[in-house]
Amino acid sequence: MSSVHVNRIIDRHGAERASLIPVLQDIQDDYNWISEPHLRQVADRLGLPLSEVYGVASFYRALSLEPRGKTLIRVCKGTACHVRGAQLIQEELERQLGIQAGGTTEDMAYTLEVVNCVGACGMAPVVIVGDKYFPGVKPHRAKKLVQTERDEE
Ligand code: FES
Repeated sequence: MSSVHVNRIIDRHGAERASLIPVLQDIQDDYNWISEPHLRQVADRLGLPLSEVYGVASFYRALSLEPRGKTLIRVCKGTACHVRGAQLIQEELERQLGIQAGGTTEDMAYTLEVVNCVGACGMAPVVIVGDKYFPGVKPHRAKKLVQTERDEE
């Protein structure tokens, strides 16, 4: 069954090949991920092979083909962050959220990801919550990051 909302997104950008990336970005923004039915709908409406739409969606890191929580928490595990305790931070966040890295909480509120160097080694170890960077995070502060984020909601 096609989604009315996705049809609206496509109508807004125009049902043509050039709209593929903006359409996928809008679906990502609105749903936090792009499901297979949505990929099929985009392919149908834009007259493109599903393989091409899937290829583009899987190429861009900003687009996710797995369900993602509303807030993405990224733990940097590049070398500088790793030597300053990123593993302990990851473990604390996993405990707090009750998920493993790469997972999403059941209420779809958070996804925890481990990433490579985010280009802020001078501030290592770094955790990024949504688009906010937290420098010099200590494991006990990792717990606070989640609590603060929850309190702000
Ligand atoms: S290694 Fe973490 S910011 Fe570079």
